Amino acid sequence: MSTDNFHGWACHGKDKPLELSELPLKAFDDYAVDMDITHCGICGSDIHTIDSGWGPTDYPCVVGHEITGICTRVGKKVQKVKVGDRIGVGAQSGSCLKCEDCKSGNENVCMKGIVYTYSSYWENGDKSYGGYADKWRGHEHFIFKIPDNMSNEIAATFFCAGVTTYSPLKHYNVKPGDKVGVIGIGGLGHFGVQWAKAMGATVVALSHSDRKRDDAKELGCDDYIVTSNKEIMSAHNGTFTHILCTNFSPDFDWESYLSLLKANTHFIVVGVPDAPLSGIPALLLASRQIAIVGSAIGSPSMIEDMLNFAATHNVKPWVNKYPMKEVNEAIKAMREGKPRYRIVLEN
Ligand SMILES: NC(=O)c1ccc[n+]([C@@H]2O[C@H](COP(=O)([O-])OP(=O)(O)OC[C@H]3O[C@@H](n4cnc5c(N)ncnc54)[C@H](OP(=O)(O)O)[C@@H]3O)[C@@H](O)[C@H]2O)c1
Ligand SMILES: [Zn+2]
Ligand SMILES: [Zn+2]
Repeated sequence: MSTDNFHGWACHGKDKPLELSELPLKAFDDYAVDMDITHCGICGSDIHTIDSGWGPTDYPCVVGHEITGICTRVGKKVQKVKVGDRIGVGAQSGSCLKCEDCKSGNENVCMKGIVYTYSSYWENGDKSYGGYADKWRGHEHFIFKIPDNMSNEIAATFFCAGVTTYSPLKHYNVKPGDKVGVIGIGGLGHFGVQWAKAMGATVVALSHSDRKRDDAKELGCDDYIVTSNKEIMSAHNGTFTHILCTNFSPDFDWESYLSLLKANTHFIVVGVPDAPLSGIPALLLASRQIAIVGSAIGSPSMIEDMLNFAATHNVKPWVNKYPMKEVNEAIKAMREGKPRYRIVLEN
């Protein structure tokens, strides 16, 4: 086999299981970094993509964008990492690096040339493939050295779930005295709770069942609300400064969630359901001057900042490991809501 191919667990169509397949890596160039993958987390976005939930997926796709491994080869202009380094990459593998957003350190919102780690296209037309695989190749700008005190299996999930929750909480200035609610205690949510707590806030889990109450406490939550309990929800009316929403159920009751917020606060959208959001009560939104804001992963500088913050505050994911070859079982467990709280595939 050509050294420019890799083996990955590809999805060849909607409702099909992943199959081990041989596919091409992107062309090698001066900024390329090759990695032998050791670990890859399973993100909710992987499931949306496998299922064509956000629109038709361009199959075959190899998903996975919480990737760690060992650097095996670098292009001649690469400075950030060297062969033998333990490295990681998240949901973004490229951007134009020239536009106003890229130049101001906001590469994650580049509108000129964003390359997602899977189901995307590089500038030369090569397709991007993710981390349910043995090898990965990308651009040095979006690669990170894993801190010495962090294992590859622990580091992996920081690169999507970690930064997606860290970035908006930091951007919207969560601080002591704030009260932060996290909707959905899953891969993203269990990081969100830990970040908000480490930033000094009072943290409340907003969960659809009572099943995670003990875990939420251990993760640092000060309180736990089962969101179907109207009485408890209304007891918290007007007391939150931020809500971080990682999950929108089909019958999402905006009125009850926005009612939790104080005036001049933020409802942060990170969960991305298949269907558009609807049913937002404009009167409540306007009268409390609530900002509903979206947030997408995080820029490279935010990822560096997050890794430092995690080391200082001892923030760590709770990981359930599966061998890479059991990826279909792992996806089944993810669909059934079993992870506590992030599945990581291991080669
Ligand atoms: N904005 C971004 O850049 C970005 C980045 C990564 C992921 N995402 C998106 O974020 C979302 C969450 O991803 P994830 O990896 O955290 O997924 P996840 O681990 O599956 O967590 C989702 C959580 O939603 C809640 N939930 C699940 N089914 C539910 C149901 N039927 N009713 C009510 N609540 C339910 C559960 O929490 P409880 O049991 O506590 O209710 C679950 O743990 C996905 O839409 C993903 O695509 C966005
Ligand atoms: Zn993700
Ligand atoms: Zn750009």
